[in-house]
Amino acid sequence: MALLKIARMGNPVLHQVAQAVSDPKAPEIQSLIADMLETMADARGAGLAAPQVHQPLRIFVYHVPTNRVANPEEALLPRVLINPEITPVGDEMMICSEGCLSIPGLRADVPRHAKVRYSGLDENGEVLEGEATGFHANVLQHENDHLNGILYPQRITDFERFGHVEEILR
Ligand code: NI
Repeated sequence: MALLKIARMGNPVLHQVAQAVSDPKAPEIQSLIADMLETMADARGAGLAAPQVHQPLRIFVYHVPTNRVANPEEALLPRVLINPEITPVGDEMMICSEGCLSIPGLRADVPRHAKVRYSGLDENGEVLEGEATGFHANVLQHENDHLNGILYPQRITDFERFGHVEEILR
């Protein structure tokens, strides 16, 4: 396994639509997933999408840490979604405080759908699907945006809540 270099906002790989993965079990995909999980853990991120490590493919890894959910049962260990489909359930929106490993040092409040349905493939090529709310729904929408070349600043509606972490948490 290896730590991967993370692309920062402005790098063209972050601003393009990523390609679907044809064979999740291909050795190079398996190796990429392992490296992405290691890189996400090392960078202390909640999620990491393949374009962020210079691979324009429809893959992201994420987890839901216990400190981000009210009920410990809602926490999720690191997992992968390949070729994900994320669709809103209902019209309700929520405001999420987001950061991104590709935009170090900054945070913003971003409107997201309060509930989403997700489906995709796991690292074994098996279907992984369900519904998500709260932080889980937040991270799914943020990471899925990466696969479509969208970074969270493009979702901001209140720019007074966009700034440096040290200033916002002061
Ligand atoms: Ni991000």
